[in-house]
Amino acid sequence: MAVTADGKVDTFERRGARVSGIEDTRLVDALRAAADAVMVGGRTLVAEDPRLTVRDPVLIGERVAQGRPPQPAKVAVASRLVQPGHAGMALPSPSRFLIEGATLVIVATTQATPSDAREWLERQGAELVVHDGLRVDLPRLLADLAEREIRSLLVEGGGTLVAALLAAGLVDELRLAVAPLLFGGEDAPTPVSGPGWPRDQAIPLTLLETDVDADGDVVLRYAVRRAGPA
Ligand SMILES: NC(=O)c1ccc[n+]([C@@H]2O[C@H](COP(=O)([O-])OP(=O)(O)OC[C@H]3O[C@@H](n4cnc5c(N)ncnc54)[C@H](OP(=O)(O)O)[C@@H]3O)[C@@H](O)[C@H]2O)c1
Repeated sequence: MAVTADGKVDTFERRGARVSGIEDTRLVDALRAAADAVMVGGRTLVAEDPRLTVRDPVLIGERVAQGRPPQPAKVAVASRLVQPGHAGMALPSPSRFLIEGATLVIVATTQATPSDAREWLERQGAELVVHDGLRVDLPRLLADLAEREIRSLLVEGGGTLVAALLAAGLVDELRLAVAPLLFGGEDAPTPVSGPGWPRDQAIPLTLLETDVDADGDVVLRYAVRRAGPA
């Protein structure tokens, strides 16, 4: 994820503000190219309608030469989605997330997504995974993805999804690009949100790599040291 120097991943407006520079965008493109699938949370999906595609034709060519699909699969995790134009969490129509990249698109959701919204998503080419319960069962979803040969997953936020994956012990590495900007705002989102953990249950990290790119973004790569909070 890309964060400002004051630890925010978006402004208080939550419209998907650009955070890091061009150089980091290139690095994220390479991370996408290395992944079997790219995942986002529902609020990021709706705020940004992200393409999540690899842009560099050289990287796409390398994937094809390795016998892989040109683009990684895309996965969205959303408790409840509604049809475009309805009140609630809705994608625009047409949606870049759903149509760009000609790749497998999975929307993992719950029974709270009404049938008309499910049918609309399927008509747009998405494969639906519908879990019982109030939220998507993340360990079950990742096991399902592994059965589809999706072994490396790049999660591009937001903080609610990242916190839940950390709490479930499902994260191996965390990569933060710290941009030389301040967004402020006590309600501006951060890279790990959810309810949080007390100090004695904080998730320890091991710093693996640091780099400063040409735009002044400090790129930090960490290993997540413990499976999840105690
Ligand atoms: N700078 C960056 O790198 C970056 C990257 C991504 C996003 N962002 C920003 O982050 C903000 C969105 O982040 P966010 O934290 O609000 O939301 P989020 O993590 O993008 O989305 C969370 C969504 O996932 C759903 N969900 C379903 N099952 C879940 C489970 N088991 N665990 C956790 N969530 C589950 C949540 O449902 P419920 O409704 O049940 O909670 C919620 O709708 C936006 O402003 C976006 O632009 C920034």
